[in-house]
Amino acid sequence: MTESKVSKQDLHAILAPHDQQDVLRFWDDLDSAGRDQLAAQIAEIDFDELDQLIAGQDAKRDFAAMAARAMSPPSVKADGSGAAWSAADAIQRGEAALAAGQVGAVLVAGGQGTRLGFDQPKGMFPIGPVSNRTLFQFFADRLIAIGQKYDVEVPWYVMTSDATDAETRQYFEDNDFLGLKPEQVRIFKQGTMPAVDAASGKLLMASKDSLALSPDGHGGTVRALQRNGCLDDADRRGVRYLAYIQVDNPLANLCDPALIGHHILASSEMTTQVVRKRYPMEKVGNVALVDGRVEIIEYSDLPESAANATTDDGQLQLWAGNIGVHVINVDFLNRMSQSSGALPFHRASKKVAHVDQAGNSVDPDVPNATKFERFIFDLLPAAENAFVVESLPSEAFAPVKNAEGATSDTASLAKTAVSDLHRGWIESAGGRVDPDVLVEINPRYALSPGELAKKIPANFEIRSDHYLTFE
Ligand code: UD1
Repeated sequence: MTESKVSKQDLHAILAPHDQQDVLRFWDDLDSAGRDQLAAQIAEIDFDELDQLIAGQDAKRDFAAMAARAMSPPSVKADGSGAAWSAADAIQRGEAALAAGQVGAVLVAGGQGTRLGFDQPKGMFPIGPVSNRTLFQFFADRLIAIGQKYDVEVPWYVMTSDATDAETRQYFEDNDFLGLKPEQVRIFKQGTMPAVDAASGKLLMASKDSLALSPDGHGGTVRALQRNGCLDDADRRGVRYLAYIQVDNPLANLCDPALIGHHILASSEMTTQVVRKRYPMEKVGNVALVDGRVEIIEYSDLPESAANATTDDGQLQLWAGNIGVHVINVDFLNRMSQSSGALPFHRASKKVAHVDQAGNSVDPDVPNATKFERFIFDLLPAAENAFVVESLPSEAFAPVKNAEGATSDTASLAKTAVSDLHRGWIESAGGRVDPDVLVEINPRYALSPGELAKKIPANFEIRSDHYLTFE
């Protein structure tokens, strides 16, 4: 057996001041690989920060009070009102930034997709209503189309986690980087946070040689982008704006010129795209202005009274639903990545399987643990001139979250939404689509209704499921 690089005494000296030395209880039984793994996990933890979190000494926010003071955020509405510039101005400005190579793309794909019941990375989920293209392929096709249209190479930063990294890398390699250039794609892994026992605050162990770790939330993107050289890469390429999306939304308009243009014209450091909530307690984050700063109050933190509050004209006071689509300045991310407290932690009470003192596996059926996560949207209050752009759900939001049978956010609903949108494009270009037929347009065929109108012939008719693609 080769000797482990770190001694038990060294680790004890790190752990004991924080009363976490219990995680060494199986040390003497471990082989050197197990010891190295545990030592590496311990080295990654900021124990002072963890102590504060366990003691509840980190800054807490009173979401109910925030929600009571919340107002409509500075925004441009879907009809174009609310800004000093027009939608056409925004598109022109965004297109100029794209053509100048100033835009990069970020995809967060570290989530485990537990609710969806899919055991591979969610990006590998087939979502094309006719083509069966995966979510990853949807976004790759958009980036290829954008690259061709503006004659640029848009760099793509894809964030994974321990749970999704190896399979995601393999998938990209096995599929020729989905048509992108390998040097255009940087896959990087987010950090982890340990789960602690809810009652005692002690670190939980997933096995004798491993802590119970989970991804540190999509707020981990900030640090992970910096640590993995993506911000430097963006700087080197002259990229000033990062278009950020979540992996679970096939309608996400990655690198949308209008959104980028609004962001630039608003001189904003971070802009977020929203949809109008359909009902007060819809399960989306609420984008609002609180004490002069743009904030997102998660649905789970929103009291019903605040959710139901209306303005004089009968509209919801908190109307702006978060869809996890942002444009963020690279400079701002560089600044934020230097400040450790830039993003607060959120706590979640969860069931976490672990080994007990005696080394027996425990699979709890009630929440036993506290997990800590950071959210990217908590950057908004720190951003200068944070701005909000409304879009229509039918054009921008069809999340794939739940297994079939649920009433919302399923894959079949998302496929229908994609087909309905593309049917609308064909019809507005003068074509005809039989009812009950599925249609799908690859962005490499047409990125917008305007491009489609130039391509399809007069009297274009679709009688059976149809995929308009580039070949
Ligand atoms: C999220 C938003 C919610 C918004 C909704 C829209 C949060 C906390 N809430 O909810 O306000 O209305 O999306 O769809 O974000 N991810 C990582 N690493 C992590 C955690 C998540 O990469 O550690 C990625 C996931 O892969 C996914 C995205 O972040 O792409 C969203 O995460 P998820 O936990 O599914 O968020 P929701 O609860 O659905």
